[in-house]
Amino acid sequence: MPVRPIVRLGHPALRTPAEPVDQTHLSDPQFQILIDDMFETMLASGGVGLAAPQLGIGLQLFAYAVVDPDAASDSAEDGGEEQQPELKVLINPAIDPRPGELIYDWEGCLSIPDLRGLVPRHPEVRVHATGRNGQPIDYRVEGYEARIVQHEYDHLNGVVFLDRMRDLRSLAFGAEWEEFLTEEDHEDAQVG
Ligand code: NI
Repeated sequence: MPVRPIVRLGHPALRTPAEPVDQTHLSDPQFQILIDDMFETMLASGGVGLAAPQLGIGLQLFAYAVVDPDAASDSAEDGGEEQQPELKVLINPAIDPRPGELIYDWEGCLSIPDLRGLVPRHPEVRVHATGRNGQPIDYRVEGYEARIVQHEYDHLNGVVFLDRMRDLRSLAFGAEWEEFLTEEDHEDAQVG
């Protein structure tokens, strides 16, 4: 599974709404390879999410990874092996936010290397999508996972996290963010 190049801000694919995936593509081996490559590329780049437009592919799908924070800390305390992230792919997703106050947290983007910023997101969204084998997906996500899903979903509509920021003054490069803006033991900004 090769790692593919990630396009950066300025590439038109990041500003062009993606097209829906035709259901017949799901049985195309090339399409399944694309999904595997998306996971490979995301993990190799240290990201927690990756949308097809970030590979210059204008299709409505994205991959992301979640680690259960409770299970991860239990495993660390036990000196156990690092928990493998659960890999998820959403094809032709629609998201429906639960009404509620927006929550600010740090985000970064593999297509906007090294920058971090505070981004408001809905605390909980309902997701409708198709899975890689054509199965219908319908679930609720909150917190960490809801933030990733909203970030990646935006990529399918030509939107990046900078567009969602209410105040650009929180923008910081990674090293300065580590030194001045994050607390010890704070998780890294979620980069997708
Ligand atoms: Ni991104």
